[in-house]
Amino acid sequence: MITAIISKKGGVGKTTTSVNLAAALAARGRRTLLIDLDPNAGASMSLGVAKADLGPSSADLLLHDVPAAALVRETSVANLYLMTASVDLRGVEVELDKRGRKDAVLGPCLRPIRRDFDHVFLDCPSSIGLLTRNAITASDLFMVPAVPQFLATDGLDHLVETAVRISISAGGRTELLGILLTMADYRLRATREIVGQLRERFGTKIFVVEVRTNVSLAEAPAYGKTVFQHKPYATGARAYRLLADEFLDAVDRKRQPDLTAASNVHAWR
Ligand SMILES: Nc1ncnc2c1ncn2[C@@H]1O[C@H](COP(=O)(O)OP(=O)(O)OP(=O)(O)O)[C@@H](O)[C@H]1O
Ligand SMILES: [Mg+2]
Repeated sequence: MITAIISKKGGVGKTTTSVNLAAALAARGRRTLLIDLDPNAGASMSLGVAKADLGPSSADLLLHDVPAAALVRETSVANLYLMTASVDLRGVEVELDKRGRKDAVLGPCLRPIRRDFDHVFLDCPSSIGLLTRNAITASDLFMVPAVPQFLATDGLDHLVETAVRISISAGGRTELLGILLTMADYRLRATREIVGQLRERFGTKIFVVEVRTNVSLAEAPAYGKTVFQHKPYATGARAYRLLADEFLDAVDRKRQPDLTAASNVHAWR
Protein backbone atom coordinates (compact mmCIF):
# COMPACT_ATOMS: atom_id res chain seq x y z
CA MET A 1 0.00 0.00 0.00
CA ILE A 2 1.31 3.43 -0.91
CA THR A 3 -0.08 6.34 1.10
CA ALA A 4 0.55 10.00 0.29
CA ILE A 5 0.41 12.52 3.13
CA ILE A 6 -0.79 15.74 1.58
CA SER A 7 -2.03 19.22 2.40
CA LYS A 8 -2.13 22.60 0.75
CA LYS A 9 -1.20 24.18 4.06
CA GLY A 10 2.25 24.31 5.63
CA GLY A 11 3.07 23.25 9.17
CA VAL A 12 0.05 21.00 9.70
CA GLY A 13 2.01 17.91 10.77
CA LYS A 14 2.56 16.10 7.44
CA THR A 15 6.20 15.35 8.18
CA THR A 16 5.63 14.54 11.87
CA THR A 17 2.87 12.15 10.84
CA SER A 18 4.88 10.55 8.00
CA VAL A 19 7.85 9.87 10.28
CA ASN A 20 6.04 8.70 13.38
CA LEU A 21 3.24 6.74 11.73
CA ALA A 22 5.85 4.98 9.57
CA ALA A 23 7.95 4.26 12.67
CA ALA A 24 4.93 2.95 14.59
CA LEU A 25 4.14 0.51 11.76
CA ALA A 26 7.80 -0.53 11.60
CA ALA A 27 7.64 -1.25 15.34
CA ARG A 28 4.75 -3.62 14.60
CA GLY A 29 7.05 -5.53 12.29
CA ARG A 30 5.76 -4.08 9.01
CA ARG A 31 8.45 -3.34 6.46
CA THR A 32 7.87 0.35 5.92
CA LEU A 33 9.42 2.81 3.49
CA LEU A 34 9.20 6.56 3.90
CA ILE A 35 9.86 8.55 0.74
CA ASP A 36 10.64 12.20 1.30
CA LEU A 37 9.32 14.34 -1.56
CA ASP A 38 9.74 17.73 0.10
CA PRO A 39 12.81 19.72 -1.06
CA ASN A 40 13.14 20.91 2.56
CA ALA A 41 13.92 17.28 3.48
CA GLY A 42 12.26 17.54 6.89
CA ALA A 43 11.44 13.84 7.08
CA SER A 44 14.98 12.83 6.08
CA MET A 45 16.55 15.09 8.70
CA SER A 46 14.00 14.01 11.32
CA LEU A 47 15.35 10.50 10.83
CA GLY A 48 18.89 11.67 11.51
CA VAL A 49 20.28 12.20 7.99
CA ALA A 50 22.72 15.14 7.92
CA LYS A 51 22.21 17.85 5.31
CA ALA A 52 25.46 16.86 3.58
CA ASP A 53 24.25 13.24 3.23
CA LEU A 54 20.85 13.90 1.64
CA GLY A 55 21.95 12.87 -1.87
CA PRO A 56 21.36 10.67 -3.77
CA SER A 57 17.67 11.32 -3.22
CA SER A 58 14.17 11.00 -4.62
CA ALA A 59 15.18 13.74 -7.09
CA ASP A 60 17.50 11.21 -8.77
CA LEU A 61 14.59 8.82 -9.08
CA LEU A 62 12.48 11.40 -10.87
CA LEU A 63 15.13 13.18 -12.90
CA HIS A 64 17.93 10.72 -13.61
CA ASP A 65 16.16 7.35 -13.77
CA VAL A 66 18.19 5.99 -10.84
CA PRO A 67 16.40 2.75 -9.80
CA ALA A 68 14.34 3.15 -6.63
CA ALA A 69 16.06 0.17 -4.98
CA ALA A 70 19.40 1.98 -5.21
CA LEU A 71 18.00 4.95 -3.29
CA VAL A 72 16.47 3.11 -0.32
CA ARG A 73 18.48 3.42 2.89
CA GLU A 74 18.23 1.75 6.25
CA THR A 75 17.45 3.93 9.27
CA SER A 76 18.18 3.58 12.99
CA VAL A 77 14.70 2.05 13.33
CA ALA A 78 14.33 -1.66 12.51
CA ASN A 79 11.99 -2.27 9.54
CA LEU A 80 11.95 1.42 8.65
CA TYR A 81 13.59 2.44 5.39
CA LEU A 82 14.05 5.89 3.89
CA MET A 83 14.43 7.51 0.51
CA THR A 84 15.74 11.00 1.23
CA ALA A 85 14.77 14.29 -0.37
CA SER A 86 17.20 17.00 -1.37
CA VAL A 87 17.12 20.52 -2.73
CA ASP A 88 17.44 19.04 -6.22
CA LEU A 89 13.71 18.33 -5.95
CA ARG A 90 13.12 22.02 -6.59
CA GLY A 91 14.38 21.42 -10.12
CA VAL A 92 12.01 18.48 -10.53
CA GLU A 93 8.95 20.70 -10.68
CA VAL A 94 10.50 22.67 -13.52
CA GLU A 95 11.93 19.62 -15.30
CA LEU A 96 8.74 17.53 -15.13
CA ASP A 97 6.78 20.47 -16.41
CA LYS A 98 8.66 20.10 -19.70
CA ARG A 99 7.74 16.42 -20.10
CA GLY A 100 4.54 14.72 -21.18
CA ARG A 101 2.49 12.75 -18.59
CA LYS A 102 4.15 14.90 -15.99
CA ASP A 103 1.65 13.96 -13.24
CA ALA A 104 2.40 10.26 -13.52
CA VAL A 105 6.17 9.92 -13.45
CA LEU A 106 6.62 8.66 -9.87
CA GLY A 107 4.26 5.66 -9.95
CA PRO A 108 6.18 3.66 -12.59
CA CYS A 109 9.48 4.46 -10.80
CA LEU A 110 8.13 2.84 -7.60
CA ARG A 111 6.63 -0.23 -9.25
CA PRO A 112 9.82 -2.36 -8.98
CA ILE A 113 10.02 -1.91 -5.18
CA ARG A 114 6.43 -1.54 -3.99
CA ARG A 115 6.05 -5.26 -3.28
CA ASP A 116 9.20 -5.17 -1.10
CA PHE A 117 7.35 -3.16 1.55
CA ASP A 118 4.14 -3.60 3.49
CA HIS A 119 3.65 0.16 3.59
CA VAL A 120 5.11 3.08 1.69
CA PHE A 121 4.51 6.68 2.80
CA LEU A 122 5.11 9.77 0.68
CA ASP A 123 5.79 12.97 2.63
CA CYS A 124 4.78 15.85 0.37
CA PRO A 125 5.50 19.57 0.22
CA SER A 126 2.74 21.95 1.26
CA SER A 127 1.20 22.71 -2.11
CA ILE A 128 -0.56 20.78 -4.83
CA GLY A 129 2.31 21.24 -7.27
CA LEU A 130 3.82 18.59 -9.49
CA LEU A 131 5.53 16.71 -6.65
CA THR A 132 2.29 16.29 -4.71
CA ARG A 133 0.40 15.47 -7.91
CA ASN A 134 2.91 12.73 -8.66
CA ALA A 135 2.58 11.47 -5.09
CA ILE A 136 -1.20 11.29 -5.49
CA THR A 137 -1.09 9.40 -8.79
CA ALA A 138 1.55 6.99 -7.40
CA SER A 139 -0.55 6.20 -4.29
CA ASP A 140 -3.39 3.87 -3.41
CA LEU A 141 -4.53 6.11 -0.57
CA PHE A 142 -3.98 9.57 0.81
CA MET A 143 -4.20 11.13 4.24
CA VAL A 144 -4.75 14.80 5.03
CA PRO A 145 -3.45 16.18 8.34
CA ALA A 146 -5.40 19.24 9.52
CA VAL A 147 -5.10 21.47 12.57
CA PRO A 148 -8.45 22.11 14.28
CA GLN A 149 -8.16 25.88 14.54
CA PHE A 150 -10.18 28.80 13.25
CA LEU A 151 -9.82 28.96 9.41
CA ALA A 152 -7.10 26.30 9.42
CA THR A 153 -9.44 23.64 8.08
CA ASP A 154 -10.98 25.74 5.30
CA GLY A 155 -10.78 24.07 1.92
CA LEU A 156 -10.52 20.48 3.18
CA ASP A 157 -13.38 19.26 0.98
CA HIS A 158 -11.88 21.01 -2.01
CA LEU A 159 -8.48 19.43 -1.38
CA VAL A 160 -9.96 15.93 -1.16
CA GLU A 161 -11.95 16.45 -4.36
CA THR A 162 -8.90 17.85 -6.14
CA ALA A 163 -6.76 14.87 -5.13
CA VAL A 164 -9.36 12.37 -6.32
CA ARG A 165 -9.71 14.29 -9.59
CA ILE A 166 -5.94 14.33 -10.16
CA SER A 167 -5.86 10.57 -9.68
CA ILE A 168 -8.79 9.90 -12.00
CA SER A 169 -7.39 12.07 -14.77
CA ALA A 170 -4.19 9.99 -14.63
CA GLY A 171 -6.29 6.82 -14.94
CA GLY A 172 -5.96 5.89 -11.25
CA ARG A 173 -8.27 5.44 -8.29
CA THR A 174 -6.49 6.92 -5.30
CA GLU A 175 -8.85 7.24 -2.35
CA LEU A 176 -8.98 9.25 0.85
CA LEU A 177 -7.99 7.07 3.80
CA GLY A 178 -8.74 9.78 6.29
CA ILE A 179 -8.33 13.28 7.62
CA LEU A 180 -6.10 13.38 10.71
CA LEU A 181 -6.58 16.07 13.33
CA THR A 182 -3.11 17.17 14.46
CA MET A 183 -1.82 19.66 17.02
CA ALA A 184 -5.24 19.70 18.67
CA ASP A 185 -4.81 22.11 21.56
CA TYR A 186 -7.62 21.80 24.08
CA ARG A 187 -6.22 24.69 26.13
CA LEU A 188 -7.81 26.87 23.45
CA ARG A 189 -11.49 27.16 24.20
CA ALA A 190 -12.51 27.04 20.53
CA THR A 191 -10.83 23.69 19.87
CA ARG A 192 -13.61 21.50 21.29
CA GLU A 193 -16.20 23.32 19.21
CA ILE A 194 -14.13 23.24 16.00
CA VAL A 195 -13.39 19.51 16.42
CA GLY A 196 -17.11 18.89 17.04
CA GLN A 197 -18.07 20.76 13.87
CA LEU A 198 -15.46 18.94 11.78
CA ARG A 199 -16.53 15.52 13.06
CA GLU A 200 -20.15 16.36 12.29
CA ARG A 201 -19.28 17.51 8.79
CA PHE A 202 -16.79 14.81 7.79
CA GLY A 203 -18.03 11.89 9.89
CA THR A 204 -16.03 8.70 9.42
CA LYS A 205 -13.68 10.42 7.03
CA ILE A 206 -11.86 11.79 10.10
CA PHE A 207 -9.66 9.39 12.06
CA VAL A 208 -10.96 8.74 15.56
CA VAL A 209 -7.42 9.18 16.91
CA GLU A 210 -6.38 12.81 17.37
CA VAL A 211 -2.82 13.97 17.77
CA ARG A 212 -2.73 16.64 20.43
CA THR A 213 -0.12 19.34 20.78
CA ASN A 214 2.80 17.61 22.46
CA VAL A 215 6.24 19.08 22.96
CA SER A 216 8.00 15.71 22.56
CA LEU A 217 6.77 15.51 18.96
CA ALA A 218 8.30 18.92 18.25
CA GLU A 219 11.58 18.09 20.04
CA ALA A 220 12.34 14.69 18.52
CA PRO A 221 13.37 15.90 15.00
CA ALA A 222 16.13 18.08 16.47
CA TYR A 223 17.75 14.88 17.78
CA GLY A 224 17.20 13.06 14.49
CA LYS A 225 14.86 10.69 16.30
CA THR A 226 11.32 9.46 16.08
CA VAL A 227 9.13 10.27 19.07
CA PHE A 228 9.40 6.60 20.12
CA GLN A 229 13.19 6.84 20.33
CA HIS A 230 13.07 10.27 22.00
CA LYS A 231 10.19 9.93 24.52
CA PRO A 232 8.40 6.59 24.12
CA TYR A 233 5.90 7.34 26.89
CA ALA A 234 4.95 10.85 25.72
CA THR A 235 1.32 11.44 24.79
CA GLY A 236 2.49 12.11 21.23
CA ALA A 237 4.09 8.66 21.06
CA ARG A 238 0.90 7.09 22.37
CA ALA A 239 -1.18 8.98 19.78
CA TYR A 240 0.90 7.71 16.87
CA ARG A 241 0.83 4.14 18.23
CA LEU A 242 -2.97 4.33 18.38
CA LEU A 243 -3.06 5.89 14.93
CA ALA A 244 -1.05 2.95 13.59
CA ASP A 245 -3.77 0.58 14.85
CA GLU A 246 -6.52 2.67 13.30
CA PHE A 247 -4.52 3.02 10.08
CA LEU A 248 -4.12 -0.76 9.78
CA ASP A 249 -7.84 -1.32 10.41
CA ALA A 250 -8.77 1.31 7.81
CA VAL A 251 -6.38 -0.18 5.25
CA ASP A 252 -7.83 -3.64 5.89
CA ARG A 253 -11.31 -2.30 5.22
CA LYS A 254 -10.06 -0.81 1.96
CA ARG A 255 -8.69 -4.21 0.98
CA GLN A 256 -12.09 -5.81 1.61
CA PRO A 257 -14.43 -3.57 -0.35
CA ASP A 258 -17.53 -5.66 0.51
CA LEU A 259 -17.10 -4.99 4.19
CA THR A 260 -16.46 -1.35 3.45
CA ALA A 261 -19.70 -1.06 1.54
CA ALA A 262 -21.59 -2.90 4.27
CA SER A 263 -20.40 -0.59 6.99
CA ASN A 264 -20.94 2.41 4.71
CA VAL A 265 -17.50 3.76 5.52
CA HIS A 266 -15.47 5.93 3.18
CA ALA A 267 -18.30 6.71 0.79
CA TRP A 268 -16.54 9.78 -0.49
CA ARG A 269 -16.81 9.03 -4.15
N1 LIG B 1 1.31 17.26 17.65
C1 LIG B 1 2.27 18.18 17.68
N2 LIG B 1 2.54 18.85 18.81
C2 LIG B 1 3.51 19.81 18.83
N3 LIG B 1 4.26 20.16 17.78
C3 LIG B 1 4.02 19.52 16.62
C4 LIG B 1 3.04 18.49 16.50
N4 LIG B 1 3.04 18.04 15.24
C5 LIG B 1 3.97 18.75 14.59
N5 LIG B 1 4.58 19.63 15.41
C6 LIG B 1 5.62 20.62 15.07
O1 LIG B 1 5.01 21.60 14.23
C7 LIG B 1 5.87 21.97 13.16
C8 LIG B 1 5.21 21.63 11.82
O2 LIG B 1 5.03 20.20 11.76
P1 LIG B 1 5.47 19.39 10.47
O3 LIG B 1 6.83 19.78 10.02
O4 LIG B 1 5.21 17.97 10.75
O5 LIG B 1 4.38 19.94 9.46
P2 LIG B 1 4.38 19.88 7.87
O6 LIG B 1 2.95 19.91 7.46
O7 LIG B 1 5.22 18.77 7.39
O8 LIG B 1 5.08 21.26 7.53
P3 LIG B 1 5.68 21.73 6.09
O9 LIG B 1 4.50 22.16 5.30
O10 LIG B 1 6.59 22.87 6.45
O11 LIG B 1 6.38 20.56 5.49
C9 LIG B 1 7.17 21.23 13.41
O12 LIG B 1 8.03 22.06 14.13
C10 LIG B 1 6.74 20.02 14.25
O13 LIG B 1 7.78 19.57 15.08
MG1 LIG C 1 6.79 18.73 6.04
